[in-house]
Amino acid sequence: MGLDLRLFSVTPKAQFEGQSLGAENFADKVGRSTSRWMTVRGRHSRGCLGLIAVWLFCHLAAAQPPSYPLYCQGPLTTSAPTPLPIGPTTTPFVWASTGAGAQAPGPGQCAWADRAAGGPELVNGNGNVICDNVGLIASVPAGQYWEFGVYRDQASNNCMRITQYVGAVGPPFSATPALPPSHTPPSYPLYCMGPLTTGPPTPPPSGPSLTPYVWSATGAGAQSPGAGQCAWADRPAGGIEIQNGNGNSICDWSGLINGVPAGQYFEVGVYRDALHNNCMRVTRVIGVVSPPFSAVPALPPYVRPSVATLSAQQIASLRRGIQAMMNLDTVYATSFRFQANIHGTYDSAASPREVSAWNQCEHGSYFFFSWHRMYLYFFERILRAASGDPNLALPYWNWSDPNQRALPQPFWMPQTGNSLYIPVPGRPSGVDDGTSLLSDGTVDFSTAFMATDFDSLTGSGLSFGGQIASPMQFNGPHGELESQPHDVVHGALSGLMGDPDTAAEDPIFWLHHANIDRLWNRWIAQGGGRQDATDSAWLNTTFTFFDENGSAVNMTGQQVEDTAAQLGYRYDDDPPDPPQEPTPMPPRRAEVQPVQVKRTAISRPSPGNAPRHVLDELVSHVSVPLSDNALEILNSALQPGTSRHVVLQISDIQYAGSPGAYYEVYLDLPRDTPPSPKSPYFIGNLSFFALRPHRMTPSPSVGPREGGKRDFDVTKVVSMLRREHKWNSSQVTVTFVPTTGLVDKQRRPLPVATGKKASLGTITLSLE
Ligand code: C2O
Repeated sequence: MGLDLRLFSVTPKAQFEGQSLGAENFADKVGRSTSRWMTVRGRHSRGCLGLIAVWLFCHLAAAQPPSYPLYCQGPLTTSAPTPLPIGPTTTPFVWASTGAGAQAPGPGQCAWADRAAGGPELVNGNGNVICDNVGLIASVPAGQYWEFGVYRDQASNNCMRITQYVGAVGPPFSATPALPPSHTPPSYPLYCMGPLTTGPPTPPPSGPSLTPYVWSATGAGAQSPGAGQCAWADRPAGGIEIQNGNGNSICDWSGLINGVPAGQYFEVGVYRDALHNNCMRVTRVIGVVSPPFSAVPALPPYVRPSVATLSAQQIASLRRGIQAMMNLDTVYATSFRFQANIHGTYDSAASPREVSAWNQCEHGSYFFFSWHRMYLYFFERILRAASGDPNLALPYWNWSDPNQRALPQPFWMPQTGNSLYIPVPGRPSGVDDGTSLLSDGTVDFSTAFMATDFDSLTGSGLSFGGQIASPMQFNGPHGELESQPHDVVHGALSGLMGDPDTAAEDPIFWLHHANIDRLWNRWIAQGGGRQDATDSAWLNTTFTFFDENGSAVNMTGQQVEDTAAQLGYRYDDDPPDPPQEPTPMPPRRAEVQPVQVKRTAISRPSPGNAPRHVLDELVSHVSVPLSDNALEILNSALQPGTSRHVVLQISDIQYAGSPGAYYEVYLDLPRDTPPSPKSPYFIGNLSFFALRPHRMTPSPSVGPREGGKRDFDVTKVVSMLRREHKWNSSQVTVTFVPTTGLVDKQRRPLPVATGKKASLGTITLSLE
């Protein structure tokens, strides 16, 4: 376990307050309905700024045992690190006099949440010592109570290792031995046949109600539990996760299990709840099922629904989950703001964990799809836990559907009681009330879907998934689908969505990206040789996220190729049944080093002092002079059946912020032809999303802050021009037509008003 202190700088108080201010205001607006965590975060923000200087949790191990809340009252005295200089510092403490209902540990004392005398997990752990690496515990102020998540670390003499800092709290403490957000271990399917009889809550009135049952005669292949019996999916005798758990009772608070009709089979997802005598806690309700049951010990994948199909109850779960995440302070990895900041942020990272976790979004390389899939996957798990709805799955916004071009209605104003709508500075107001719609051109993905290659050589964005380059390439050209429609939709929505350093703060981000993720599946499903990247860098590069417990987790590309089998979710229009046998692996390529694409220029090099081309709200034209032998090169290269492409590349694209417009780009558009994305002269859209590094990442891996690049495959237009004898062999003209990407309900384009203007360095035409 290494701590790199060089990464760490103390954030001035003002900045930290600025960082949490947005969420504070928000909390004030929504009222104090979820009072416990609101209270905690309010106190935290006022009282614990000093703690930030010792917040060093970035090296927590990925796999941790479940942890439990511990309340301590300062002052506590922490020893020197053992061993020096970076071992844990240990803080000895005295247990508060225990017994259910004991409210407050005294100074130098700690108490476990449910504080039953001799509570098993923590009290019996041998030794009243907290281990942490930074003396965090020593900074609990005298007379204050702080809450932590801890587990016994057997590798360090059973000291209590901190997994979470919950915050400054005050009595009365919750007697619920749970950490926010709820800890959900993996759960497994259990089939039961009714009738089952549920007991009263234990202890009354609010303990779980327990349903005792009998294991069905097990043995692989046994199909059906008898009445009052249950069987675990793979049903070998004593199958490990569930059957060895001691005790045949299901715990739930709802008496749900009680309702399984006599003679019917019911399937639920369960895990053993160590805090309630190992009863089986229900995490998901699958519903009535019938034999033959799957012998696969996995629950059916969650189904990500189209947002247009959500029930009122599903919308309520979504709002509740987002709200609960927003209520958490940014110091939690499971808070909405922390999650958004993983993508990109202007917030100052206050801890090494934040420094390493924030500003990680992958754009401009073939990691775009896999990184965002992982990001959404963990966000969805956190959201599900936060919502308290075990069946919640992240919806997608299918803007391809002409009837879904407006921002989905649950995301409209007003804000009251609606965590999905946040007032977004800079977003056209018609978006907020559904009167402005995304235009046809904004959502079009036909170019990307024609591509059959997932990746392309470094320097070329002419593939579905992007160029083969190491992570964090912002200056390179984006892949086809990333450019269009991904970037273009970001640009058309603008406001927070228009800037990668704020985009994920807008709740619609997650549904936009679910649709992008879905389109990845749709692209593969077209066949024709379409498959994911197969080289080891794409397959094995590790990215770090946080699960619903706030624990750091790593993932690689090869772990996210099959969403149903590997991540437990599918889209509602994915093929209905996940394949029972693993899909055969496509042939793997070994390491491919990023290799620069070879291009033969057919335009003249532009003089070093050429003025930049500024884009504003007017249509503009740029002439690109061709070299003398351009015609000759084209003639020999563009033979029928050629696999070569003519590429127009715009380089050194600069912009100070989202300009509130994107540009339709045309090649040799005749002056008397009105521009239309349907015309044969249209080559694509130029949008300004994630073409440059994060503002807040002064990291050497990011590379120089040169401007962005955008590639257009113009082979078809050039061939057409040549065929129709319209090709001008001395120059081509590139036309930029500004558009907001939005139309009104009559499908009339909204007027463009660009604020911050973008400008272009060079435009080159070449053969690839
Ligand atoms: Cu990483 Cu749509 O952005």
